[in-house]
Amino acid sequence: MPEYPDIEARDRVVAALTKLPPLVTSWEVEELKSQLADAARGKRFLLQGGDCSESFDDCESKVITNKLKILLQMSLVLVSASKRQVIRVGRIGGQYAKPRSADMETIDGVTLPVYRGDLINRLPFTKEDRIPNPELMLRGYERSALTLNFIRSLVDGGFADLHHQEYWDLDFVAHSPEAAEYRRIVETISDSLKFLETVLGGPVDDFERVDFHTSHEGLHLFYEQAHTRHVPHRTGWYNLSTHFPWIGERTRALDGAHVEFFRGIANPIAVKIGPSISPDELLDLIKILDPNNEPGRLTLIHRFGADRIGTALPPLIDVVRDADRLVVWCCDPMHGNTEQTSSGMKTRSFERILQELELAFQVHNELGSYLGGAHLELTGDQVTECTGGARGLTEEDLRQNYRTQVDPRLNYEQALETAMLIARLMIRYNKRK
Ligand code: PEP
Ligand code: CO
Repeated sequence: MPEYPDIEARDRVVAALTKLPPLVTSWEVEELKSQLADAARGKRFLLQGGDCSESFDDCESKVITNKLKILLQMSLVLVSASKRQVIRVGRIGGQYAKPRSADMETIDGVTLPVYRGDLINRLPFTKEDRIPNPELMLRGYERSALTLNFIRSLVDGGFADLHHQEYWDLDFVAHSPEAAEYRRIVETISDSLKFLETVLGGPVDDFERVDFHTSHEGLHLFYEQAHTRHVPHRTGWYNLSTHFPWIGERTRALDGAHVEFFRGIANPIAVKIGPSISPDELLDLIKILDPNNEPGRLTLIHRFGADRIGTALPPLIDVVRDADRLVVWCCDPMHGNTEQTSSGMKTRSFERILQELELAFQVHNELGSYLGGAHLELTGDQVTECTGGARGLTEEDLRQNYRTQVDPRLNYEQALETAMLIARLMIRYNKRK
């Protein structure tokens, strides 16, 4: 948790946030929970993606629409392959707080607090920027509201209508090595839609609109608590800062504050699990976070790295199955595969990301469980942050457009290529029963 120098100022901001209207509603939250229950039962697939760390400066229409477009395009690819509905969840509209391994950072002999995300402090390496400032919680709430307002208008206004996939085209789609395959999928879906409408004699309402939900790491408990409310006609507490908050790998201690907070909210929640978790610890975590084994309540996002998933995942799947627990299993192939280049840039190899995804499908299939989702760090823009992919980005190429504030993201083409791979894996492994 950040240490604010002025505790009264922090408490004033939290009190102000508590009075402001919520960002999402309890019925949206419950609707998502019921969709996630389907993913736990093997009937839907969760596609969760967005920035590692959203920046206040990127709260602009092009960045938001590009992110929405790539997620819609990816979900179309997955729907067409799997014949399952896809749950689209952005790491968006609130992904502003970051866990860090060290509290301080030293550059050229100067030591300052590390950057912890725009909700807490600012990136430039000056004392003024790095001191936690509680006002940023208000700025973050406003940015979230602006982002959500725009996404809701786009989705309601027909942007996400399956009849208008041309809206989702990104300027550079034509140059992508996967463009031809994507076009083929779009045409197949358009043809099926036209066929259905001809048979039914009218529009297929259910297909017209896709919905979209938000998520972020529920890291900053002062901020999350301020959005946690009782709602008329419902029991329990809802965290209305986002639909689907998650607990990060670094804050999932059984007796820690984050688990205590998450235990008390009614949202669907996720927890990131890495190689250090033991099967017993996982079972204890599940018992605390989902005592009633409620369908859709708990998603386990595993992030082991391509080298470790083969040995780390099976014992966890076994313990969950033996305890008769219903969870959504979701693979994050990003956070276990972070590396540094020789010149010190943080990157990820696209090949290792794909490898972890492939192993995740394979291991779940071998053990008779269902991989119900993928969690990705991506952007709709042409950044150069992860190496590899169809264009074979090298370490030298990374300098061309390296923009992330924290972790390296898949760029538009790499994201689309990932969706194609997941689609092929779903066809191979996730057979409909
Ligand atoms: C993240 O999702 O950006 C993150 C920090 O993940 P993890 O908690 O899995 O390390
Ligand atoms: Co990250």
